[in-house]
Amino acid sequence: MARGDGVRASGVPPAPAPRRPATGGPSPGSARGESYLGIDIGGTGIKGAPVDIAHGRLLADRVHIPTPVPSRPEAVAEVVATISHHFGGGHHIGCTFPGVVMRGVVRTAANLDHGWIGVDAHALLGRATHRAVTVLNDADAAGLAEMAFGAGRQRAGVVLMVTLGTGIGSALFVDGVLVPNTEFGHLEIRGKDAERRASARAREVRRLSWRRWATYLDEYLGRVEALVNPDLVIVGGGISARADRFLPRLRTQGAVMPAQLQNEAGIVGAALHVRATMAQLGAGGLAPARRRTGAAAAGTGATRVPRA
Ligand code: BGC
Repeated sequence: MARGDGVRASGVPPAPAPRRPATGGPSPGSARGESYLGIDIGGTGIKGAPVDIAHGRLLADRVHIPTPVPSRPEAVAEVVATISHHFGGGHHIGCTFPGVVMRGVVRTAANLDHGWIGVDAHALLGRATHRAVTVLNDADAAGLAEMAFGAGRQRAGVVLMVTLGTGIGSALFVDGVLVPNTEFGHLEIRGKDAERRASARAREVRRLSWRRWATYLDEYLGRVEALVNPDLVIVGGGISARADRFLPRLRTQGAVMPAQLQNEAGIVGAALHVRATMAQLGAGGLAPARRRTGAAAAGTGATRVPRA
């Protein structure tokens, strides 16, 4: 088991291991005594941990439970509830989702059960956990975390985060403001969805050498660069830990940097998102599973990177 991975097997995980001794008073993750749990829903695993939103750190080892197969909404919601209970249940919950999420409603699910499409994820996960839950695209969450605490910190202009995992996710920032739900992983390159050629999974499944895969990634980034002309591209996903194998082979015009938060970015970004949404709506605006309407309801409008 990788360090910090917490529990991988399904079933009830053991009690969380705190990373710092309790000091009394609000935890460092708290604003006015509030606590925030980030949960990253992925195609193969669902990971969660309480987050110190002031510093972008996890407050306990994350829990990792395999994504149920099939990954139907109710089954995934049960896992989210298990993770919430594991950490005591008294927090606000931000979740990522590997698809387009508009005002809490899932619009696409390329790497999860298609039964998700049209589901109000805020309401479903709110009912399952009895907590206020916000949901945003996984790459958008990772981007929020990198912009606040990682490679994009203090960066103005156009910044593009690309996550390379099961699929390819993208998050676009203009002067620190997120343009939500960009889907640059589905550009068509040589007749194929880009993520079928240049994702981390494509490298594994097709047993590509680093050199060959870097060629595909380079072609992909070149195409994206030609479309949005970013000042900086941040390459994230677990594979960014091996950046030395592929970054030197890229010929992009602009700056490219590996992500710094790696596997924790989604969890941290999800927690930042629920905090930002609550700040927009006020404390009463995000009641558990409450019916909400309007742009502010889901926090899918302009999300500004919080200043750490
Ligand atoms: C989805 C994106 C997601 C990415 C990474 C893609 O297949 O369409 O929404 O961000 O995978 O999970």
